[in-house]
Amino acid sequence: MNVSIFGLGYVGVVTSACLARDGNTVIGVDVNKEKVGMVLKGKSPIVELGLSELLAEVIAAKRLSATTSVADAVAATDVSLVCVGSPSAPDGSTYLGHVFDVCQQLGLAIARKREPHTVIIRSTVPPGTTEKCREIIRERVGKGTFHIGFNPEFLREGSAINDFHSAPFTIIGTDDPIAEHAVRDLYSLVQSQVLVMEFKVAEMIKFTCNAWHAAKISFSNEIGRVAKSVGVDGRKVMEVIIQDLKLNVSTAYMRPGFAFGGSCLPKDVRSLIHIAQVNNVQVPLLTSMLDSNDQHINRSVQLIMETGKRNISLLGLAFKSGTDDLRESPAVELAERLLGKGFNLKIYDPAVHEAKLMGANKLYIESKLPHLTRLLTNNIEEIVAHGEVLVVTHAAGEFRSLIDGLDSSKFIIDLAGILKPDVKDKNYAGVSW
Ligand SMILES: NC(=O)c1ccc[n+]([C@@H]2O[C@H](COP(=O)([O-])OP(=O)(O)OC[C@H]3O[C@@H](n4cnc5c(N)ncnc54)[C@H](O)[C@@H]3O)[C@@H](O)[C@H]2O)c1
Repeated sequence: MNVSIFGLGYVGVVTSACLARDGNTVIGVDVNKEKVGMVLKGKSPIVELGLSELLAEVIAAKRLSATTSVADAVAATDVSLVCVGSPSAPDGSTYLGHVFDVCQQLGLAIARKREPHTVIIRSTVPPGTTEKCREIIRERVGKGTFHIGFNPEFLREGSAINDFHSAPFTIIGTDDPIAEHAVRDLYSLVQSQVLVMEFKVAEMIKFTCNAWHAAKISFSNEIGRVAKSVGVDGRKVMEVIIQDLKLNVSTAYMRPGFAFGGSCLPKDVRSLIHIAQVNNVQVPLLTSMLDSNDQHINRSVQLIMETGKRNISLLGLAFKSGTDDLRESPAVELAERLLGKGFNLKIYDPAVHEAKLMGANKLYIESKLPHLTRLLTNNIEEIVAHGEVLVVTHAAGEFRSLIDGLDSSKFIIDLAGILKPDVKDKNYAGVSW
């Protein structure tokens, strides 16, 4: 393909060299004449393993050139990748001036073209930006035709060339099949799963990946600091943790749902924070986890209050389905807050039989919900008839069938995410969807 790449920085120059090596004809574009001059000489403007050799090779083969002229680059290519910087503004927001400048120039250049042109935003940008780019270009193209998509970059500096060819996945944010196919064709030699979605979802995914990576690093470092304070080598701990690919390093616990709870997670996070405090180790990430969990329950209460209804049926009381363990269950916490606000509550949980509760479990629920007998029912008809709002806390098949059968007169607050996002015939809401 004939491709122009806007921005010859860390992402743009690697992308230019790799796409040229894969057999495309590439033109790099930058406002910085010095960078353009270096690339034209086959020299790398950045330090990156293997890049100098690769640039020299593709420049000699005449598969890569560089220019400061947007018009020339757009006229000679079918697809433009926008890889310009999107740095932090002083208030922490993303500065999008470079991205929007390029889009304006692309729009004007496309206006002078007869053939359609595809624009792919590759810079990391907040949700809503690609849509804005589409408007900026549309306002300027006149009779020109263009297609647009968002395709975030996942390379890491230092191993960028390798990462380019073995990306974790290729994300394409677009509703335009031509833009989608342009990206698929460009990466036909990249061995990774291609996932196509809306602009905003794709934009959010890139931020989520980086936040998750930062959370993992902070988590490992906080564990390391606490471990050292009790005479344990943090590296030894994390070396074992990462060998569990079933629960620790996996897709487990990675989907939005209701708050965490039960007899282990909250207690053990608290213990770890306590150990850190006793040893004078600051662990802001660990400390904020319980607060974040609590905010999730608060938001659930708000959502129920926003319905304006008073008769609430809670489906699921234990900390997850298939157990009668009520200790530190977020559903018990939710029930307690709702009762405190004067809601008329009934609870259904097929695993919870008050008479069978014992030990710490029984003591816990007696302290939190002393009138459980009055609230609990094992009668499905009764729970459906009672609730103007049905609040689902467990991802249980039984609850899904029950909710599926309800009409739109009932309000459903799905905290577990058991219904598909395309529920249109129901009064349906959740905290994360
Ligand atoms: N660096 C990384 O490891 C990495 C990884 C993934 C994603 N990203 C994202 O990719 C984007 C680029 O990052 P980077 O590190 O390559 O940035 P960079 O600052 O190294 O390069 C940006 C380049 O864009 C050029 N530029 C600015 N305005 C221009 C314009 N109007 N026309 C042409 N060129 C223009 C600059 O001169 C510069 O050379 C950012 O959104 C970043 O968040 C970076």
